[in-house]
Amino acid sequence: MKAAVLHGFGQVPVVEECDEPEAGDGEEVLDVIAAGINPVDLAIASGGFYGPRPQLPAPVGSEAVVRGGDGRLSYLPKAVSGTLAERAVVRTDSLIALPDGISPGQAVAAGVAGLAAWGSLQHGAGLRSGESVLVLGASGAVGQIAIQAAQLLGASRVVGAARSEEGLEHVAELGVDATVALDGGADLGERLSAAADGGFDVCIDLVYGPPLLAALGAMAPLGRIVQVGSAAAPDVTLPAAALRARNLLLTGYTSARLSPEQRAATYLAVAGAFAAGTVAIEIEEIPLENAAQAWSRQAGSPHHKLVVVP
Ligand SMILES: NC(=O)c1ccc[n+]([C@@H]2O[C@H](COP(=O)([O-])OP(=O)(O)OC[C@H]3O[C@@H](n4cnc5c(N)ncnc54)[C@H](OP(=O)(O)O)[C@@H]3O)[C@@H](O)[C@H]2O)c1
Repeated sequence: MKAAVLHGFGQVPVVEECDEPEAGDGEEVLDVIAAGINPVDLAIASGGFYGPRPQLPAPVGSEAVVRGGDGRLSYLPKAVSGTLAERAVVRTDSLIALPDGISPGQAVAAGVAGLAAWGSLQHGAGLRSGESVLVLGASGAVGQIAIQAAQLLGASRVVGAARSEEGLEHVAELGVDATVALDGGADLGERLSAAADGGFDVCIDLVYGPPLLAALGAMAPLGRIVQVGSAAAPDVTLPAAALRARNLLLTGYTSARLSPEQRAATYLAVAGAFAAGTVAIEIEEIPLENAAQAWSRQAGSPHHKLVVVP
């Protein structure tokens, strides 16, 4: 079968013929209908991810929509083998049957990106109706879905902060109450505070680094900051007084820590919103033959969801 295979850490995977994957106990080999490329896949392939390193050469990709033996489509949060491939090894008990009315591309977008967006708001921040939300790094797939999820979950005010001009335009189109440019300006803290209109109850932080430091002063007392991604920087020097001054809570979030039940329920909430048209993101389908090109484009923040279709 054809698959995108990583031969060396830090390299771009190569689409090539490789051996059919083999299923173990409790597993089966299923056809991949659509697969996502996510920052975590790039991080694993760089060799710098905090989780276990794969043995190379290895097919890449972790999430997919697969077709079961009965012909039904399911979402697969994490395959045993790589998903940028014609077929993947699947733990049968990890499949989540797709709701009606969702396309395979949307079903992928609702996966890693959707779970991070909805899960960080619901399980990470415990967002309550009527609270105000700041999304730092709002122009990517997770950020765009987080904006819409916050609106659906009843946030009273939703503000999106993003770096690029094009990204800010995307965020504005989502009907946010304000946008803030992450342009490196020294006055970022003041602009975030002005956009907060009284202080944010929740911050979903997809970037870390200087934007997070600037956001500390824009939080409301007892505000919750959920650290989800570090696109801007892996480290910050965090002033203790900034946390103490408002009794802020800073917590991390990874969808990998959701229980299987939480993961399925959260996925179905996001997928249901996609199917109903209350959450949307542009999806670009790319043939498996062009997966290497898609991989490089994902590294450059495409502002929409790239979905590989075998
Ligand atoms: N914890 C979890 O469970 C989980 C799950 C999924 C994803 N994530 C993380 O969430 C983050 C977003 O994922 P994604 O799929 O949305 O990625 P994406 O679509 O590639 O978007 C990344 C965004 O980061 C922004 N960005 C990159 N460098 C930046 C910088 N130096 N300063 C400010 N913004 C910067 C880009 O904005 P501009 O182009 O506008 O500059 C881009 O929109 C990633 O860090 C990813 O690893 C975490």
